[in-house]
Amino acid sequence: MHKISCTINGKPFDFTVSPTTRLLDLLRDNAHHHAAKEGCGEGECGACAVFLDGKMVNSCLIPAARVNGSCVETPEGVRETPIGKAIVEGFLQEGAVQCGFCFPGMLMAGTALLREHSNPTEQDIRKAISGNLCRCTGYDMIIRGIQTSASMIREGN
Ligand code: FES
Ligand code: FES
Repeated sequence: MHKISCTINGKPFDFTVSPTTRLLDLLRDNAHHHAAKEGCGEGECGACAVFLDGKMVNSCLIPAARVNGSCVETPEGVRETPIGKAIVEGFLQEGAVQCGFCFPGMLMAGTALLREHSNPTEQDIRKAISGNLCRCTGYDMIIRGIQTSASMIREGN
């Protein structure tokens, strides 16, 4: 077993984890943060996306022991940030009505993009969400949602 300390959405946590515990398990089972979802469990769908020290990762692929001393941000925390709020509003405005499995990952991917680019092109957006699967709605409304979010942030709304 490993003892680890980390912050999750800015709050300090201490855990004891087994070598096989994944970051996704730590967040959902130990920390009771359920917004990151288990979809494929193999790094293919993006439903489990979180930020680890500012970089988006698929938490189903990360051993929990690796986050000792790190800052983890989950969709619960990110959706309360100015960019996260803009993404939620942009999706609403564009009718990008996603399910609870893909939306958290889209929120994280959109936030990762808008943290780096205030005025992304459609190509930038398609690349940013390329690791996030939705087999239901197509991606057009999602792309427009992120474009609208970016405009809202640039205009200070
Ligand atoms: Fe992690 Fe699909 S559950 S990428
Ligand atoms: Fe969520 Fe398609 S997988 S709406």
